[in-house]
Amino acid sequence: MDRESIEKQVKELHQLLNQYGYEYHVLDNPSVPDSEYDRLLRELQDLEEQYPEFITPDSPTQRVGGVALSEFKKVRHQTQMLSLANAFSEADLRDFDRRVRQAIGDDFSYVCELKIDGLAVSLRYENGIFVQGSTRGDGTVGEDITANLKTIRSIPLRLKEPYSLEVRGEAYMPKKSFLELNKIREEQGKQLFANPRNAAAGSLRQLDPRIAASRNLDIFLYGIGDFGTTGVTSHHKGLDLLEKLGLKVNKERKQCHSMEEVLEYIEKWTNERSQLNYDIDGIVVKVDSLEQQNQLGQTAKTPRWAIAYKFPAEEVVTKLTSIELSVGRTGVITPTAILEPVQVAGTTVQRASLHNEDLIKEKDIRIGDWVVIKKAGDIIPEVVYVLEERRSGTEIPYQMPEHCPACESELVRLEGEVALRCLNPKCPAQRREGLIHFVSRNAMNIDGLGEKVIGQLVALELIKDPADIYYLTKDQLLTMERMGDKSSTNLIEAIEKSKSNSLEKLLFGLGIRHVGAKAAATLAEHFETMDRLASATIEELLQIDEVGEKMADAIVTYFENQEVEQLLTKLKQAHVNMTFLGQKRSQTADEDSYFYDKIVVLTGKLQQLSRNEAKEKIESLGGKVTGSVSKNTDLVIAGEDAGSKLTKANELGIETWDEVRFLEELP
Ligand code: IVH
Repeated sequence: MDRESIEKQVKELHQLLNQYGYEYHVLDNPSVPDSEYDRLLRELQDLEEQYPEFITPDSPTQRVGGVALSEFKKVRHQTQMLSLANAFSEADLRDFDRRVRQAIGDDFSYVCELKIDGLAVSLRYENGIFVQGSTRGDGTVGEDITANLKTIRSIPLRLKEPYSLEVRGEAYMPKKSFLELNKIREEQGKQLFANPRNAAAGSLRQLDPRIAASRNLDIFLYGIGDFGTTGVTSHHKGLDLLEKLGLKVNKERKQCHSMEEVLEYIEKWTNERSQLNYDIDGIVVKVDSLEQQNQLGQTAKTPRWAIAYKFPAEEVVTKLTSIELSVGRTGVITPTAILEPVQVAGTTVQRASLHNEDLIKEKDIRIGDWVVIKKAGDIIPEVVYVLEERRSGTEIPYQMPEHCPACESELVRLEGEVALRCLNPKCPAQRREGLIHFVSRNAMNIDGLGEKVIGQLVALELIKDPADIYYLTKDQLLTMERMGDKSSTNLIEAIEKSKSNSLEKLLFGLGIRHVGAKAAATLAEHFETMDRLASATIEELLQIDEVGEKMADAIVTYFENQEVEQLLTKLKQAHVNMTFLGQKRSQTADEDSYFYDKIVVLTGKLQQLSRNEAKEKIESLGGKVTGSVSKNTDLVIAGEDAGSKLTKANELGIETWDEVRFLEELP
């Protein structure tokens, strides 16, 4: 191929990948299966490796830059980054409305937006190319976090039109990513993030962009440094323009023509904010017309044309009756406060994690204390502080034990960790947690083996390690409480079925330190068999992009252990699959299947299969499962109690099936 056609091919790949990335990350509505995106990306990577002169800053391969920085450069914003004055009540909002009317009269409208709880950032585009991203800093000078921002997939590296502008927005961590991140950190004995905002800010302040890349951050854009340069005349038209350029703008924005409408919007979101998959801490109210904004002007740091209504944090008082300890899969000891049940933000709370010993000391939490509870990041119950003035003198200061509550081994605090750990690999509590992990959804996914059943099987000494699960007999199961003929047959079948899982599920289930579900998938794809992975050297492991030193070390140490060797032999003898089937699956994704290249939405409750199983089946047949119904959806499979997605599908005239019809179509 001559150079010209190579360059053309590279450009075509950029365009296609940018389009698919946009559909997936900004519109939340992919038009091709992930495998197609990955295939094109690999094709581009190969070309760029051969012809590095064609690598451009907006290439989709340039999202995660290689090197860690030693410090962030300072960046002067072209236009000052203002913050907002706050309103805490209807009266504050009415005062604001009065001030606005005094200055510009009654002929105006507001735009209401969700106030995203993250970190304010500015993105600079030159001729449509993303050239620099920065934090707010003091509003005039911020820090250059371009490399970290590039890892956010919904930030386009090239706009749909060659505009030069500074766009403003809020980078945030979705609630789901926050929960997953803290779960991993808890297992690793690391300090937890208090809420998604701190987690987002902490991730964007990392000097090594690979850390930000692993944190699944997202962004909403809500403004332009200087709207005037774009020719738009109102804020809402400015947001429409940003959307048209391919930037992610929050859909819930609304034009309001009176304070009554603003208050209705606030009431709606006060009630519904817990259903969003990101945190908001209030509502921003902005005068829409840019001319009127100019008339109103600004104070030193805040505009007079906008205000942030802040939701009241829901805090309640209850009594802490005791502290319970649990031993995690990796031996981390977690104290949990047991509370007299109270209602907080819509649910009954009777437990709150105290995370570690330092936190108990720092807050001086004693048994019998009256404590203030809130939900951190609106999700996780947390003890905010103790009401010392309500102490009677009978409260008992808490002392963490020196020995494991499950196996009596001495507890240790590893260097650099805040958690206390039990290091006994034979600790029954750790084993039990390890078994629960082994059978869980993203691991071997054995239906019918929940925490309770595992607890019983361990107590009856029917299983000690994961391989024992594969030697259970129906007669043994029948000796258990509440286990009848049908449930034991189903369980044996589910265990049998899990034997043919692809390698990554087993690998994740084994619970090797630092190997999460994603790393397990990468390792399985790379090494293809357990034996090959088990004999890999540190150097070989480090050649894989996503494997760092800690993980490589943990993998090698894991496979050196004799007990592990015996466990793997026992699993092999039970015919548990130890090869990677992913590749094979996509090769067999036969083009004759109904699902091939189809975009499918699952909704409602399925009886025969779990959501995950249904998704895997569709994907293995070459289909793509997405979360929301749009005109690109080919099929909606509706289980029981299907709601708005089914209605929407009917409105759009999209084909809908019930579960029976779906099962008929499966091979
Ligand atoms: S407008 C001149 N709109 O809230 C207007 N801010 O102090 C400047 N925020 O950290 C801000 N969502 O990043 C605006 N829809 C939204 C917002 C929003 C979140 C943040 C902003 C800043 C704080 C305001």
